[in-house]
Amino acid sequence: MLEVGEIRQIAVIGAGVMGSGIAQTFAQAGYAVRLQSRRQETLRAARDRIARNQAAMIQAGLLSEAAARESLARIHTTTNLEKAAHGCHFVSESVPEDLGLKRQVFAALDQHAPTEVVLSTDTSGLSISAIASATTRPEMVVGFHWMNPPHLMPPVEVIRGERTADRAIDLVCGLAGRIGRVPIRVEKDVPGFLWNRLQLALIREAIHVVEQGIASPEAVDLSITTGLGLRWAAVGPLRLMDLGGLATFHSIAAYLYRDLSKADEPQQTLAAKVTAGETGVRAGRGFYHYPAGSADAAVGARDARLFELLKLLRLPAFQDTALPDAH
Ligand SMILES: NC(=O)c1ccc[n+]([C@@H]2O[C@H](COP(=O)([O-])OP(=O)(O)OC[C@H]3O[C@@H](n4cnc5c(N)ncnc54)[C@H](O)[C@@H]3O)[C@@H](O)[C@H]2O)c1
Repeated sequence: MLEVGEIRQIAVIGAGVMGSGIAQTFAQAGYAVRLQSRRQETLRAARDRIARNQAAMIQAGLLSEAAARESLARIHTTTNLEKAAHGCHFVSESVPEDLGLKRQVFAALDQHAPTEVVLSTDTSGLSISAIASATTRPEMVVGFHWMNPPHLMPPVEVIRGERTADRAIDLVCGLAGRIGRVPIRVEKDVPGFLWNRLQLALIREAIHVVEQGIASPEAVDLSITTGLGLRWAAVGPLRLMDLGGLATFHSIAAYLYRDLSKADEPQQTLAAKVTAGETGVRAGRGFYHYPAGSADAAVGARDARLFELLKLLRLPAFQDTALPDAH
C-alpha cells in the first residue's frame, strides 16, 4: 500500500454534483486529478460547475483567482475509466447510488488501478463490504463519504468495511487532513454510517412536532439555526451533556424519551408531500413555498450563509489557499 506522502495523482470516478466538487477539492490542495465520467457532456458540465463553485468562493474571499486558475489546470477529464485508473495513486468513486453499478465500477477499478492503491467510495449508505467484495482487494476498499457541497463542507466520514485494513483507514484519514478535511472515523459498516443516523433522528422528531402542531416548520428551523446548530458548532451533544451535568440529562431522558417519535417508516406528512410532487426547492414546494424561478436564490442564500460561517470558524479547509488574513 502506498504511503500518504506518495499520493500525487487522484482518479475521481463519476463527475456529478459530488465527483466535480471532490475533484475541485483535491485540485485546490495541489493534487493532479483525472476526472472520469462516461459522457463528454457530463465532463463539460462538471468543468462549468467547478468554475461556478470557484467564482462564488473567490467572491466570498475563500479562494484567490490564481489558486482557482492553477487548480483548474490540474484537472484532466476523460471518458475512459482505464485511462483514469492507470498509474493513479488513489481512487475516489462518486457514481450514482446503485449497488450493481458500484460493484461493476469497482471490479473495473480493481483491474486497472495499481494493486497498491486504495479504492474509496462516496456511497451515502450502501454497504462498503458489498462494494469491496467486487474486488480482489477488499482490505483496501474504504468508505470516504463527503458532505454536500463537497468543496465547502469540512468533515468526511471514513468508514471501515468488514475487511478493511487499519492501514487503509489511516491512509484515507491522512489524505483527508492533507486536503483540509476533518476525518470522522466510522468503525462499523452500518446503514446511515454516522451523520445520517444523527441527522435522521433529528429530522424524524422535527416532522413529528410539525405533524402534532407543536411548532411550525419556521419555528423548528429557527430553533436549529439560531440555537442548537450554533451550540453544536461549539460542542457536540455528548460533551454538551458533560458540561450541563449528566444527572440533568438523565432526568430529562427519563420523562421525555417516551414522548418522542418512534416512527419506523417515513411519516405521513413526508410521504404525502413526495406523492404530491412537493419535493422541495426545485419543485416550488416542500415544507415551504418557493415562487417560480427562486430556487437558485434559495440555494445561493444557503451557500452565502455557509461562506460566512466558514470564514468565522476559520476551519482548516480554507486556511491555506483561502482566507486573505490567514497568513
Ligand atoms: N448528492 C449528495 O448530496 C450526496 C452526498 C454524499 C454522497 N453522495 C453519493 O455520491 C454518489 C454520487 O452522487 P451525486 O449526487 O454526485 O450523483 P450525480 O447523479 O450528480 O452524479 C453521478 C455521476 O456519475 C456518472 N456515472 C454514471 N455511471 C457511471 C459509470 N459507470 N462510470 C462513471 N461515471 C458514471 C453520471 O453521469 C453522473 O455524472 C452517490 O453514491 C451518492 O449517494 C451524494
